[in-house]
Amino acid sequence: MTDKTQNAMWGGRFAAGPDAIMEAINASISFDKRLAAQDIAGSRAHAAMLAAQGIVTDNDAEAIREGLLTVLSEIERGTFEYSAALEDIHMNVEARLKEIIGEPAGRLHTGRSRNDQVATDFRLWVRDQADAAIGGLEALQRALLAQAEAGADWVMPGFTHLQTAQPVTWGHHMMAYVEMFGRDIGRFRDARARMNECPLGAAALAGTGFPIDREATAEALGFDRPMANSLDAVSDRDFALEFLSAATISAVHLSRMAEELVIWSSAQFRFVTLSDRFSTGSSIMPQKKNPDAAELIRAKIGRILGATVALFTVMKGLPLAYSKDMQEDKEQVFDAADNYLLALAAMEGMVRDMTANRDALRAAASSGFSTATDLADWLVREAGLPFRDAHHVTGALVALAEGKGCDLPDLSLEEMQDAHGAITSSVFDVLGVDNSVASRTSYGGTAPDQVRAQIARWKERLA
Ligand code: ARG
Repeated sequence: MTDKTQNAMWGGRFAAGPDAIMEAINASISFDKRLAAQDIAGSRAHAAMLAAQGIVTDNDAEAIREGLLTVLSEIERGTFEYSAALEDIHMNVEARLKEIIGEPAGRLHTGRSRNDQVATDFRLWVRDQADAAIGGLEALQRALLAQAEAGADWVMPGFTHLQTAQPVTWGHHMMAYVEMFGRDIGRFRDARARMNECPLGAAALAGTGFPIDREATAEALGFDRPMANSLDAVSDRDFALEFLSAATISAVHLSRMAEELVIWSSAQFRFVTLSDRFSTGSSIMPQKKNPDAAELIRAKIGRILGATVALFTVMKGLPLAYSKDMQEDKEQVFDAADNYLLALAAMEGMVRDMTANRDALRAAASSGFSTATDLADWLVREAGLPFRDAHHVTGALVALAEGKGCDLPDLSLEEMQDAHGAITSSVFDVLGVDNSVASRTSYGGTAPDQVRAQIARWKERLA
């Protein structure tokens, strides 16, 4: 006697259906339905190949391929009824195909397994996310470039330890992030190139005796080639780990930039004004304009890194080939990808819309003895002092200015000469912030000419 609750796909070996708890822990349809389009694309490619190889008839393959399009349209229209009893997207799609086209549906699974099927679907999905990440990063770079171009020579304080260090230019600071996001793009590109091999046809783990054509399915799905080892093809999720790792590093960059925007938009700094479109108000304090988007971007790294740690932990210690543990890969990657791409888009919008407050940047650049290093360098260059001695003399002058509550350029020449007799009035030339930044002409330095060269290089790359 067959029990009605038995699984249609493997009921032959079973006398009873699963316990409700078994179904609850086992089913992945609630989340892997996101792989529907990839699953159907993979199945359509597989069916076409089976017919081309004479493994199924052309008529059956045509019925399968058409029926799969019907299933896809039902999913897209939202009329598809997902069933947890059918476990996952692969069996949900196949079962519905059978309802629509009947007997030929049963021939689709020839020469493949859910193991190579899921590995293929997931690669296709992650590949799309890598492309989206690259596109989003380039859009963010463009927004940063526009900011950099507008303020290539605007002076602002550069910080170390969040203490005023040396004046830099706004354009230089913006371009620092363009470089970081450029490396993030490189990581996604590298990961994409490595993941772009096709697991389909690896079957359960050992390959198949059917005369399949793995080159054909790989090509139909836009892969560079089939994966060379069937055990590897169904076992590894390194492509997902690479994607997560790239997203994690990039989320760190986003988080650091978000932190700067939070600080910069505060009343104490006023370096930038965020647009109303990317700010929120307070329900109690009418004056507030909060940088919530920046704060949330700053926080997203938590779940993205969490997903990365989770999947590394799932994968370590799994024997080859497939184990059901690997079903736990999807929710982590889905959540990380969704939140990473959202953070990227939010950052792009914020950067595009924000206004840098040139006067506030300038005022801050001139305070905090930001040109002390320029004074020390002057003593080395013009008075021949060893740098260590110049550092000491300058330190004494900083202490003097601090005690008087003024900045370095406000000290008199006599006060300077008390500290070191070789100082002349030409020292005042280097104490101004514009001269300070203009003097930093080394490759990659903060001089406006260098910044404009960086901008030009990136505009060419992004053209
Ligand atoms: N839902 C499964 C997963 O995500 C599909 C592969 C199932 N394979 C198997 N042998 N049970 O991993």
